[in-house]
Amino acid sequence: MSFSASTFSGVKFHFEYVPLKLKNYTKLFTWSERKDWKMLDIGSGPGQLLLEVLSILPSNYKEIVCVDKELDMVNHLNTVNKDSRISCRQLNIETEALPADLKGRFDFAFSSNCLMYLQNYRQVFSNVHEMLKPKGELFFIWGKICPIHEIYHKLSRSDKWSIYLEDFVDWKSYFNNESSVDLLERICKSANLNILKVEELNDLVIEYDDLQSHMDIFDSLDHISGRIPESDLSEYKKDYHKLAMTYLTVEKIDNKQKKVKLHFPSVVLAARKS
Ligand SMILES: C[S@@+](CC[C@H](N)C(=O)[O-])C[C@H]1O[C@@H](n2cnc3c(N)ncnc32)[C@H](O)[C@@H]1O
Repeated sequence: MSFSASTFSGVKFHFEYVPLKLKNYTKLFTWSERKDWKMLDIGSGPGQLLLEVLSILPSNYKEIVCVDKELDMVNHLNTVNKDSRISCRQLNIETEALPADLKGRFDFAFSSNCLMYLQNYRQVFSNVHEMLKPKGELFFIWGKICPIHEIYHKLSRSDKWSIYLEDFVDWKSYFNNESSVDLLERICKSANLNILKVEELNDLVIEYDDLQSHMDIFDSLDHISGRIPESDLSEYKKDYHKLAMTYLTVEKIDNKQKKVKLHFPSVVLAARKS
């Protein structure tokens, strides 16, 4: 079971801050000096976010290739109404066997909220370096924590769910307690990428008036529930939601109104191939 494209396509919590950040970063990039501009979108998902940022990108782009590990996402994106210069294909960005036709192909690599699901950053950044043209650039934005995988890690330690979650026993969010800036400086250096700007968004909060909106997002991102037998699914969901609740804070504004918040510290990185 993978991320569900149909449920995730309704998730819009990042439709404001991701395009806003990209817009603020455009002055760092040399888009206008480059001919036949080609972009790679890593972990595109159902593609809605890409469509949101499209107006910020050079309108005369030559191609945008969207890649995602999950076939469900690729198939979904194939059905979305979009410019004929946008194509999509399946690719695990952590692969050790990068397809030859992707090497040295792109002027720009973009990724929104994908890297927090990954563990092997050295491989990812080395792959991105290989796929970029000389002096190619990147803009990545993603969470410093991965609540979904942290929940799986916790469930993997329970008697009931451990057999379904063996691959999460050793999971830990990449940044853990280390400074994300220091870590990214080291990773980029070893991948021959020069950092243009790195920024921590430690105060980023996803806020709704109700709990259900948050739970809908947690449900849409629950990509292992297909492993759970039907007869145990409601009990699994109860435990999953209970752990999801530990990431939320409920603030009462007055007696009637409330705000439900998820603290989602994130990081933004812009870099150029040396
Ligand atoms: C939370 S979604 C983000 C989708 C989209 N970029 C956005 O911001 O709306 C994360 C996506 O990353 C994909 N993903 C996770 N691990 C991946 C990997 N190793 N290689 C490529 N894509 C991956 C997932 O399948 C999922 O579609």
